[in-house]
Amino acid sequence: MNKQSDRTGFAGKVLVITGAGSGIGRALAVRLAGLGADLALSDIDGDSVEVTAALCEGAGVRVKADVLDVTQRERTLAYADEVRAHFGTVHQIYNNAGIAHYGEVTHESFKEIERVLDVNFWGVVNMTKAFLPHLIASGDGHVINVSSLFGLITYPGQSAYNASKFATRGFTECLRQELLLSRDPVHVTCVHPGGIKTAVARNATASQGLDAAGIARAFDRRLALHSPEMAADTIISGVRRRRARVLVGAEAKALDLLSRIAPSGSQRFGAWMSRLLRIAPRPGAAA
Ligand SMILES: NC(=O)c1ccc[n+]([C@@H]2O[C@H](COP(=O)([O-])OP(=O)(O)OC[C@H]3O[C@@H](n4cnc5c(N)ncnc54)[C@H](O)[C@@H]3O)[C@@H](O)[C@H]2O)c1
Repeated sequence: MNKQSDRTGFAGKVLVITGAGSGIGRALAVRLAGLGADLALSDIDGDSVEVTAALCEGAGVRVKADVLDVTQRERTLAYADEVRAHFGTVHQIYNNAGIAHYGEVTHESFKEIERVLDVNFWGVVNMTKAFLPHLIASGDGHVINVSSLFGLITYPGQSAYNASKFATRGFTECLRQELLLSRDPVHVTCVHPGGIKTAVARNATASQGLDAAGIARAFDRRLALHSPEMAADTIISGVRRRRARVLVGAEAKALDLLSRIAPSGSQRFGAWMSRLLRIAPRPGAAA
């Protein structure tokens, strides 16, 4: 697609996607390549990001694929400069890389909590700070940070994940306010997906005594409602409209509403739901 025929606003733009080797990141990459965007794709898993790059190259766009662990701050700062040098500019970053962990506060270790915060929150901070000067310099920048439905409501067994996704939301919403005040040419969008059929639950770790595989099966069966392509399309539509918040899935919209009209009641509802769905069993209980 050339710039003249582009009514979507993505053709010819340079977009950066983390966690592009799987799930939502891969679907975003393929969709955005189809819209004519040049892509800097990265993932901690080098093989998977190469597969995504091969899927995108068919669209005739420029693709740069790299191994990047977003928790590595110095490497992330250097990566931002590499991407800028490679493409000459950077317009949008999709901070999508993330991990999940199951564990109750009573039983999970400090290390487990820190790891989730490192990837899901500090990864977003590292990427945002590394790329922000380049996005401002582009004159038409956009930061898209992927939080979660669990950045809107809490759920038993997800304290570390909840904390990381609420933190991502707070960081992102504040960034948006600051850029509105500074009038820098960068838009900001926070994404809150509901249950998406990806590898996130299967890749998740679990605290000692929990059956990680069983919990993942329960998540996949009962909560993963939407395809990654549906998530990508919803996110792209929100980015095109420069939305502050993008909620993916009816359940994200319904639970967001519940958390706002009944903040205390929504906590009880989440606890009750987890028992009903048996997604976050206590140590020793079968999933
Ligand atoms: N799938 C869902 O139901 C769901 C719901 C809400 C939010 N999310 C969020 O969406 C984002 C994408 O998740 P997904 O569902 O596509 O999962 P996924 O597991 O399919 O993909 C996540 C990708 O991130 C990569 N990754 C993990 N740690 C990394 C690191 N340190 N540095 C760089 N890359 C790393 C993984 O290798 C993987 O390719 C995550 O932030 C996740 O928390 C997912």
